[in-house]
Amino acid sequence: MIYLVTGCAGFIGRAVALKLLEQGNTVIGVDNLNTYYQPQLKKDRLSTIQKFSNFLFFEQDIADYTKLQEIFSQFSVDKVIHLAAQAGVRYSITYPQAYTQSNLVGTANILELCQQFKVKHLVMASSSSVYGNRTETPFCEDSNTDSPISYYAATKKANEVMAHSYSHLYQLPITALRFFTVYGPWGRPDMAVWLFTEAIEQGKEIKVFNNGQLWRDFTYIDDIVTGVIATAEKPPVDKSVPFEIFNIGNHQPVLLDTFISTLEKVLGKTANKIYLPMQAGDVLTTYADTEKLQQAVGFSPNTSLEQGLIQFVDWYRSYPQAI
Ligand SMILES: NC(=O)c1ccc[n+]([C@@H]2O[C@H](COP(=O)([O-])OP(=O)(O)OC[C@H]3O[C@@H](n4cnc5c(N)ncnc54)[C@H](O)[C@@H]3O)[C@@H](O)[C@H]2O)c1
Repeated sequence: MIYLVTGCAGFIGRAVALKLLEQGNTVIGVDNLNTYYQPQLKKDRLSTIQKFSNFLFFEQDIADYTKLQEIFSQFSVDKVIHLAAQAGVRYSITYPQAYTQSNLVGTANILELCQQFKVKHLVMASSSSVYGNRTETPFCEDSNTDSPISYYAATKKANEVMAHSYSHLYQLPITALRFFTVYGPWGRPDMAVWLFTEAIEQGKEIKVFNNGQLWRDFTYIDDIVTGVIATAEKPPVDKSVPFEIFNIGNHQPVLLDTFISTLEKVLGKTANKIYLPMQAGDVLTTYADTEKLQQAVGFSPNTSLEQGLIQFVDWYRSYPQAI
C-alpha cells in the first residue's frame, strides 16, 4: 500500500508512519516543520523514519494547493492519514490565523485532492475538544457537538462536517478520529505530560489549572497507533455516504491531581504545584466512550497511565534536547 501521511514529523504522525513502514508499506510523508514548537524535535523524529528506503519526505505546507497536487500526481496514493494541523487549545486564542490556514485551508485541500485522485480511504484527525463542556460522560460520537468553546475545537468540528460533504458528494470513504490527550515518547512539548516532567525534573513550579479539578482521558501513543492503523485498514462501507466518526481514547479519565502524583512516583521527585483558576478555552472533562471503535476494529487500549509515564520518562531522560 502507498500511504500519504500528513504531519509525519509530528508526535502522532511519526509514530503512525513508523508502524506503517515496519509493516512494509510505502509512506509519502508531508510536513512543513513549522515553528509552533522546536523544529529540531520534528527533525529528530523524522530521522527515526528516514532510514527506511520505503519512506519519502516532502517539506511542504498543506495549505499550498498546487504543491500538494504535485505530490498527489507523482504517486498512486492508496490511503491518506491526515494528521497535519495547528494543534493546541490555548494557542488558538492568541493565533487563530494559524488554525484557519492549516486546519481549514489545509484540510480543504486534502479533501479535494483525495477526491480528485480517488483515494481509497482518508483517515483524519479530529479531537475530543469538539465535545466542549459537556457534562454527560462518557462522550459518545452521536452527542451534539455544535458548541465548541475554543477556535481550535471549532476548526476540528468544521473539518468533520467538511469531510461529510465530500463523502456524500463523491462517495469518498472518510473516517474522522477524535483523539483524547495522547502522550508517550517523542510527545509534544506544549502538553502537560512534557511540561510537568520538565518542570519537576528541574525543580520548577508547575501550573495546575482549575485547582487540579480537571479530568483527562490520557491515551498512550502505541494504543493510538494500533487504533489508527486498524481504522485505516477498514474503510466505512455505507455506499452513499461512506463516512464515520470514532472516539479514540482510553475510556479511563484521570483527575489532574492523580496524574501529577503518578508522575511524581515515576520521576521519584515531588512537584512544586501552583494552583490556578480555569483557563479560557479549556474543558473540565474528557472521557471517551470507545465502544463504537471497539465494535468496528476491535480497539482495546491496554496501557495504564503508570506504564505509559514510565515509557515517556525513560525516553525524556534519554533525549538530549529535552534535558
Ligand atoms: N496529541 C493529542 O493529544 C491530540 C489530541 C486531539 C487531536 N489531535 C490531533 O492529532 C493530529 C496530530 O497531533 P500531534 O499531537 O501529532 O501534533 P503535532 O503538532 O506534533 O503534529 C502536527 C504536525 O503537523 C505539521 N503541520 C502543521 N501545520 C501544517 C501545515 N499547514 N502543512 C504541513 N504540515 C503542518 C506540524 O509541523 C507537525 O509536525 C492533529 O491534527 C491534532 O490536532 C492530537
